[in-house]
Amino acid sequence: MVKTLRFADQEVPVPGFGAMGISFAFGTNLSYDEAEPILLKALEMGCTFWDTAASTEVGRFASKCGVAVFEDGAVTNSAKHIKTYMDGTIERLGFTPDLYYLHRIDPDTPLEESIPALESLRKEGKTKYIGLSECSAKTLRKANSIARIHAVQAEYSPFETLHESDGLVDTARELDITFVAYGPLGHGWLVDHFPYETPESFADDDYRRTIPKFQGENFYANKRISEGFKKIAKRKNCTMAQAALAWVAAQGMIALPGTTRPDRLEENWSSRDIELTDEDLKEMRTLVETLRPQGNRYSEEAAKAIGN
Ligand SMILES: NC(=O)c1ccc[n+]([C@@H]2O[C@H](COP(=O)([O-])OP(=O)(O)OC[C@H]3O[C@@H](n4cnc5c(N)ncnc54)[C@H](OP(=O)(O)O)[C@@H]3O)[C@@H](O)[C@H]2O)c1
Repeated sequence: MVKTLRFADQEVPVPGFGAMGISFAFGTNLSYDEAEPILLKALEMGCTFWDTAASTEVGRFASKCGVAVFEDGAVTNSAKHIKTYMDGTIERLGFTPDLYYLHRIDPDTPLEESIPALESLRKEGKTKYIGLSECSAKTLRKANSIARIHAVQAEYSPFETLHESDGLVDTARELDITFVAYGPLGHGWLVDHFPYETPESFADDDYRRTIPKFQGENFYANKRISEGFKKIAKRKNCTMAQAALAWVAAQGMIALPGTTRPDRLEENWSSRDIELTDEDLKEMRTLVETLRPQGNRYSEEAAKAIGN
């Protein structure tokens, strides 16, 4: 049973909460009135490790810069961008975020410029912690040699363990940098109720229309493959989402499940009550190794911005 995990100098309750879907990405663009009950429910339950970004509009606890979402949408890590976006975040929130990430790494800005810019925000008290998202292991190591990096955020779930083989997970562990796992439900595959029958079922502005894993033949193959995870959920008498989140926590990672529904927030939060035995973990690892998804996790264009 994993109820808290260490993050920098404190223990934080897990799982966290990913706020992206509230206003971005899944075709569910909630109004403030619609979003409020979800956020209040999270606070009531004690789920306080929230993740947002400049590109996902709402914000509390963690936010991100590094993409010029209010201009041309390009990845940029210039010192000027980092400072301006932090000031914009504070203005919109009315308070400072606790953790501030570079959302994507800009290969044209040297880390010698971007990391000191992030670090100076920390020293000025505009954030307590700094992090990188979807960077390479090499970048993480170099950045951490310039200033202490507290978190790396990247995709990780039983249905996407790529970062176990590209060195990111190992590097984070070696450098004692918290791994924050986004997409811990595989962006919606690892749930009991996946309501999409075809790749065309997604809303027009749902970003899964751009993800190869959710498109064409991959959609049908992955729908079938992801069903395999039901086995462990059935044995543990829990939902697929709960089994997936308990497993991510058992890897020592802070999962950020995203939902737009208070009832699912509660369901996901209850994953912290699930005890995975050594036998369960062994079975789950076998499933992870055998139930590999088909197709890339980003479009060709979006993939250019990851792993830098
Ligand atoms: N750093 C980055 O580049 C990056 C990229 C992507 C995401 N993120 C962060 O990670 C967070 C989570 O990622 P994600 O939202 O892409 O993927 P996810 O958490 O793996 O899956 C979210 C999807 O699953 C559905 N869902 C959630 N709980 C469910 C449940 N118990 N039963 C049935 N369906 C359920 C949600 O729909 P409903 O809303 O209908 O429940 C939504 O469609 C985001 O909110 C964001 O903060 C970061």
